[in-house]
Amino acid sequence: MKNLKSCSAIGRYAGGFYLIAQVFLTTGGAFAQTGKPLPQLGKSPIKEVLAALTLQEKAKLVVGMGFKMPGTTAPPPSTGATLDIGGFKMPPSDPDAYRIPEKVSGAAGRLHGVPRLGIPSITVCDGPAGVRIDPIRNNDNSKTYYATAFPVATLLASSWDTELVKNVGVAFGSEVRDYGVDILLAPALNIHRNPLGGRNFEYYSEDPLLAGKITAAMVKGIQSNGVGTSIKHYAANNQESNRTGVDVVVSERAMREIYLKGFEIAVKEAKPWTVMSSYNKLNGTYTSQRADLITNILRNEWGYKGFVMTDWFGGEDPVAQMAAGNDLIMPGSPTQSDLIIAAVKSGKLSLAQLNKNVSHILNVILQSPSFRKYPYNNAPNLKHDAQVSRLAAEQGMILLKNEDKALPISGAKRVALFGNTSYDIIAGGTGSGDVNKAYTISLLQGLTNAGYTADAGLISSYTDHIKAGKVNRPKPANIFALPAPIPEMAVADKLEAATNNNDVAIITIGRNAGEGNDRGLENDYYLSQSEKDMISGVATSFHARHKKVIVVLNIGGVIEIASWRNHVDGILLAWQPGLEAGNAIADILSGKVNPSGKLATTFPVDYRDVPSAKNFPGTPAQKPTTVSYEEGIYVGYRYYDTFGVKPAYAFGYGLSYTGFTYSKLKLSTQQFAGKLTASVTITNSGKIAGREVVELYLAAPGKTMDKPVKELKAFAKTSLLQPGQSQTLSFDITTAQLASYDTAKSSWVAETGTYKLMLASSSDDVKQSATFKLAKQLIAEKDGKALSPVAALNELKK
Ligand code: BGC
Repeated sequence: MKNLKSCSAIGRYAGGFYLIAQVFLTTGGAFAQTGKPLPQLGKSPIKEVLAALTLQEKAKLVVGMGFKMPGTTAPPPSTGATLDIGGFKMPPSDPDAYRIPEKVSGAAGRLHGVPRLGIPSITVCDGPAGVRIDPIRNNDNSKTYYATAFPVATLLASSWDTELVKNVGVAFGSEVRDYGVDILLAPALNIHRNPLGGRNFEYYSEDPLLAGKITAAMVKGIQSNGVGTSIKHYAANNQESNRTGVDVVVSERAMREIYLKGFEIAVKEAKPWTVMSSYNKLNGTYTSQRADLITNILRNEWGYKGFVMTDWFGGEDPVAQMAAGNDLIMPGSPTQSDLIIAAVKSGKLSLAQLNKNVSHILNVILQSPSFRKYPYNNAPNLKHDAQVSRLAAEQGMILLKNEDKALPISGAKRVALFGNTSYDIIAGGTGSGDVNKAYTISLLQGLTNAGYTADAGLISSYTDHIKAGKVNRPKPANIFALPAPIPEMAVADKLEAATNNNDVAIITIGRNAGEGNDRGLENDYYLSQSEKDMISGVATSFHARHKKVIVVLNIGGVIEIASWRNHVDGILLAWQPGLEAGNAIADILSGKVNPSGKLATTFPVDYRDVPSAKNFPGTPAQKPTTVSYEEGIYVGYRYYDTFGVKPAYAFGYGLSYTGFTYSKLKLSTQQFAGKLTASVTITNSGKIAGREVVELYLAAPGKTMDKPVKELKAFAKTSLLQPGQSQTLSFDITTAQLASYDTAKSSWVAETGTYKLMLASSSDDVKQSATFKLAKQLIAEKDGKALSPVAALNELKK
């Protein structure tokens, strides 16, 4: 035997006592003392691998191997100081927590391997908009590791196009694979509960069906590359203020129908390799420590087979996490492994449970590129993926307003570009949702590429203004704080020349946000004074010459629009569109692409209208301890439509350069007995080709249960219809879609009575409807009791 190495005594806990085994490792294979080869992952049954693992090895496998926060230095352990950066608490006693042996520089973490049993270390990285890794390694510029910034999640959901999102996933996952990463820490699908949620841009929608279907499509696309995903943050992580300590008080029904539904759809339809539990507490207990959430619901009720990991430094008790079925603690520290070992030795944690945790992880490692020794090339096809990103961006942008056909601006040649973000566009949000991309196409570049000429005087003034603004602004307080936005330049003295010299004005309004902070009202949800002055000044001047004014919203979350929209002729909601931003926006403004996105989240008239306005937790500095979801199931349009609160732009709303008619709604039956098919014909009634998102809502009888006036139950998007062309779409409805969660019965119940089925172009624009009856109550599913609030909750009812 060559290169024989002896490994010191390793304790293996078996049946209540310790076996001390001498293990010999060789380069060619591993042998136990008996001379029998050691089991190897993939070659031997998991049971045998488990039996060969020592307790110490198991406790390492369920705890990641540390994490280096960019820009931070560990306090020396001797000081006993904890480093707290926006909620990340670095334990002083764990120097390893700062040292991650790097395979992929900039990745968010790694798992331990156990080479003697053929278990490789796998690598995980962020995040929802692109592979988040360091673009340059070891100061060596000769090779770069840029990744494609895809449009943010909210934009992708606004496409309502699962095929498109799957294709984005295919491209996205190819970069995960080509950069040697095993699992992507995405997609993220928490519900847009409140417009101020700091991570809303990373999330899809206020509606769980849309969020779940888009997530499933993304997971399928990414995982088709032989890499994994981690759908996150499970669950009810709908705010960032005191995100690692806040307790969400919420009813079981709201959890099941609103906050868990999307996860359920994604788990059942797309089988993500991993799920990431969230930072927050849920009804008094950290989500990562709740067996009802992780084992009963996720695994037993939904049949989940992958592993569950914590969010970074999430929760507080590693033993409770293991016991709850949260299999992996990230980024992990040796102290946590020690606590797990001690708990098994004392009997506080059963070895059977730890074995389950380990086997969940091993089953995923078995599928990983690292296990398969995938020869990754560090050379993803970035050119191709940029085109995928551009196409997706174009399909998810939303035309909110188009007075007198102000758009497309095909006739115009000269454009006056106002607003900082026309020149310095925001491709995506910050934090783990950020991507190190090689470039971002500004709106100026995009319009120039499309053949427009931008006003030279404005280009030069804005270039100077932005440059000075960046130099002068204060440094962000910590790594999660955003750089202060640069105030808009006063434009009064530039208006006359700009109006004379150009055919049209385009004003961009930009917003950014990211993890660790929620958004504020002043100068964020509401426009700043300098933005309002810019819009009204430009509008007055251009309108006086009968020239149009278009606003492009380069934002990641909802803002107030109702008070200023009458000043302008057109509004394009471009979201944060990824690295091809300017090209994609120019394609829509010019009419090369007909907009077909629709809102995945409501734009209310005012923040006061938001059902959770009074129950949103404030600022991180206030360290809110509790947030009560008093609006219950009435989130987004479920609230606005039921309580008659008219929004500025309803859920599901979006214009096109053409028009569509809905006709020939047919139901396969008027008497529901478990299944029904509805079909409707959509015709392009305008003059140019376009696509229409068609939304199917149901109104339940609501006799025995409190019900929203309508809920989205299915959706589809037509193909590109030429003028006059029609397409018939059909939708299957099953008992599950009729049912609501009856907490007293722990069941999904479809009540008897008359249901109304609506085909709509937005939640407040129903085009065709029909009714059907359910004669006998149906139970779609019976579940166990879970998640009950321990604190009083005064929940909104109709
Ligand atoms: C975020 C996660 C992310 C993780 C690793 C956390 O701060 O909440 O979404 O995946 O960091 O970077």
